[in-house]
Amino acid sequence: MLSQSWAAALLLLSFTAPAACQTPPSLIEALVANNASQFADFIQADPEVLQLFLSSAGTVYAPVDKPSTQARSLAERALSPAEAAEAKSQGSKVQTKLNEDSQTQPGAVKQTLNKSPLVDGRNQSVVVDTRPANSTTQTKRWVGRSLAPRDGDCDEPNPNSLLRIASGLGKIANVIKADIAFQGGVIHITDKYFTPPQALSSSARATGQTAFANLAAAGNVTSTLETTHSITVFLPSNNAIAAGANATAGVSAAALVTGHVVAGRVAYLPDLADGDTLTTQTGEKLTVTVRPGGLYYVNGARITQANIVLENGVAHVIDKVLTPATTAAPPPVTGGSGALSQTLGLGVAVGVAVSALLALA
Ligand SMILES: *[C@@H]1O[C@H](CO)[C@@H](O)[C@H](O)[C@H]1NC(C)=O
Ligand SMILES: *[C@@H]1O[C@H](CO)[C@@H](O)[C@H](O)[C@H]1NC(C)=O
Ligand SMILES: *[C@@H]1O[C@H](CO)[C@@H](O)[C@H](O)[C@H]1NC(C)=O
Ligand SMILES: *[C@@H]1O[C@H](CO)[C@@H](O)[C@H](O)[C@H]1NC(C)=O
Ligand SMILES: *[C@@H]1O[C@H](CO)[C@@H](O)[C@H](O)[C@H]1NC(C)=O
Repeated sequence: MLSQSWAAALLLLSFTAPAACQTPPSLIEALVANNASQFADFIQADPEVLQLFLSSAGTVYAPVDKPSTQARSLAERALSPAEAAEAKSQGSKVQTKLNEDSQTQPGAVKQTLNKSPLVDGRNQSVVVDTRPANSTTQTKRWVGRSLAPRDGDCDEPNPNSLLRIASGLGKIANVIKADIAFQGGVIHITDKYFTPPQALSSSARATGQTAFANLAAAGNVTSTLETTHSITVFLPSNNAIAAGANATAGVSAAALVTGHVVAGRVAYLPDLADGDTLTTQTGEKLTVTVRPGGLYYVNGARITQANIVLENGVAHVIDKVLTPATTAAPPPVTGGSGALSQTLGLGVAVGVAVSALLALA
């Protein structure tokens, strides 16, 4: 009798417990099993880094193994401080799955485990961008909206899903395999390492915007700007600076540059909302406008490359210089509603539906 009810209970258990779910592997086991054993070696080369990942990482962005000729040589040595910082930037405390990240419009800021002395009170971040493919000049995009069927925590990630994540120098890493469970959270396999953030001037030059870097040097403001904590820079492209030359003819190089810098706030693109106002170091007021299709404007200048993460903040490339004479307001909206506003609208509708359900429960 007793044994029968035990058997029944066991049978019931075997039906209710999802059969495919086992205790997740350790971080290192999961990395090795998913073609990220070079990254596993990398973090294991430094006991402090390893301990940080084991104790704090909810999400690990693990770069996929490279052919052995391109692999780092880690034999018998610990990580340099720069390498340790690089390793730490591949982890984040918060656990987020691909599904959540890919539905967050226009993207999400991910604070990493890499401490940043120049961004007050925050660690260095990387930024997910989920806007439509043609809203900036960057290449790889989030594709494959249809995710595999949900099956508890054991769902197979969609192999076609890509999530693009911006880091230093505006470099993009793509998630190529997602939601791999380990004991502390989830691993997303990326196609490359995040790029360590650099100073404003080298970041501007590396992204091709040499005119702004040259103006900063000419105005003797480079080192002041690069040591100021927590800045947002609207970085006019070379073409923008050339085209604005007449309008800015009477303005000193220093004023022109600092007129594009907002101090005291790191506004990664997802932190900018339609109607936000920001004040530049020269006291000019900037108004953010978000247009259908994920297009962002500051006054009349459009952001053409977003989220170049800097050592001390973030830069966004814009297509016009910001002076009252050149940029009053963005161009008027021309018919047709864009993908972003539709998705945003849908997100709000879903949110309302979910809250309604919660209220009922
Ligand atoms: C690891 O890489 C090999 C070769 O590219 C591939 O065949 C295999 O499916 C990969 N394994 C995993 C778990 O992604
Ligand atoms: C920032 O990084 C440090 C380790 O470098 C970590 O201990 C801390 O939890 C991180 N903070 C956040 C908010 O992620
Ligand atoms: C992006 O592509 C969509 C669809 O092809 C188009 O309707 C929209 O105007 C494009 N946006 C930009 C900024 O080119
Ligand atoms: C450049 O700026 C620094 C302060 O940031 C100042 O000490 C130095 O004298 C300036 N040099 C010139 C040539 O103006
Ligand atoms: C600047 O002004 C000069 C003379 O007025 C004119 O020839 C030139 O085309 C203007 N350049 C731009 C970029 O507007």
